[in-house]
Amino acid sequence: MDRNRRQTRGKIPLISVSPPSGREPPEARSEHLVSKERLPPPMEITDQEFELFRRLLEDEIGIVLKHSEKTLVANRLRERVRELHLSSYFEYYRRITEGATRVSDLSDLADALTTRKTDFFRHLSQMESFRTEMVPRLVAKLRSGESSSINIWSAGCSTGEEPYTLAVLLQETVPFPLWPAFSILATDVSPAAIRTATEASYPRRKLGDVSSDILTRYFEPAAGDGTVKVRQAVRRMIMFREHNLKSGIWAFGQFDVTFCRNVLIYFSKMFQEELIARFYAHLKPGGYLYIGHSETLQNFANPFQFVEPMVYRRPG
Ligand SMILES: C[S@@+](CC[C@H](N)C(=O)[O-])C[C@H]1O[C@@H](n2cnc3c(N)ncnc32)[C@H](O)[C@@H]1O
Repeated sequence: MDRNRRQTRGKIPLISVSPPSGREPPEARSEHLVSKERLPPPMEITDQEFELFRRLLEDEIGIVLKHSEKTLVANRLRERVRELHLSSYFEYYRRITEGATRVSDLSDLADALTTRKTDFFRHLSQMESFRTEMVPRLVAKLRSGESSSINIWSAGCSTGEEPYTLAVLLQETVPFPLWPAFSILATDVSPAAIRTATEASYPRRKLGDVSSDILTRYFEPAAGDGTVKVRQAVRRMIMFREHNLKSGIWAFGQFDVTFCRNVLIYFSKMFQEELIARFYAHLKPGGYLYIGHSETLQNFANPFQFVEPMVYRRPG
C-alpha cells in the first residue's frame, strides 16, 4: 500500500472549489431571484414540536439531539413537510406516529436526521492494525480448523465506505483460496445510505488519497463522469441490510469481529450500555469489537477485555 500518500490525508484538498468571481451571469442572478420569491417563508419549529421530534428520535432510533440542533432539525425536515403538503411540524409528527405510513415515515426521519459522515480508510492506523494484527489471526482460525467461516459485522455502515475498506484489506491480506470463507454483513438504519452502499459508485475524489494501485485493482471507472465503482469481487463479500440497532430484533448469529465506529457517540449513555451488552452477546468467544476514535467502553462496567484504544475483545 502507498502509505506515504495516505499519511498526507487531510492535507490534500479533496474538492477544488473555484473562488467566487463576484459576478454572476445576469440570467443566473435572475433565476436566484425568481426561485427565492416563489419559496414560501421559512417555517419555524416551535420548542414543543422540537421536543416531540427529539423524544421520537431517541425512542425509535436511539439518537439524542441537543437543544442547539433545533434549527438543523427544522432545516432537515422542512422539505419533507412541504412535499407532504402539511402545514406544521406537528402534523408531520402525527403522521409519523399515528399514520398508516408509520414505518416508511420513520425511515424518512432516519434519512433526514442521521449523520452519515464516513470515509474510505477512516481511522487509518486502526485499519492498518486490523490488516496486520487481526486478519492473520482470522486466517489462522480457518487454517487450524477452529472455524470454517469468518463473519464480520459493520454496524452503522453508512454509505458503505467502511465495509468496502474492510473487504479491500481482506483481499490484500488473505490468500485468494480463503476469500470465500469471509463475509461481511453491513447494516444501517438509513435506507438512503444502504441504497448508496449497494450501488457502490463513488466520486473519484472520495478516494483521492488512496494509492493508484489499490484504485485500479479494486475499483473500475463507472459513468465516465469521474465516478468509480467497487469491483464485483469486492462487492461479493458484503451483504447490505437496513437494520435499526434500537429495534429488539437482531436476527443475526455471532460474529468474529464487529465494527461499530462513530455510531455510539450519537446515543444516550443508557443505550450505549445496552448496545455494548448486545454486541458482546453477538460476538463469538474470543471475538473483537472495534469502535470509533472518540468512543470508549471505559465508562461502563462491561465484560470486554481492553486490547488497544478503540479495540476490545470478548474473553474466550
Ligand atoms: C457517522 S456514521 C459512521 C459510519 C461508519 N461507521 C464510519 O465510522 O465511517 C453513523 C451511522 O450510524 C447510523 N445509525 C444511527 N443510528 C442508528 C441506528 N439506530 N441503527 C443503525 N444505524 C444507525 C447512521 O445512519 C449513520 O450512517
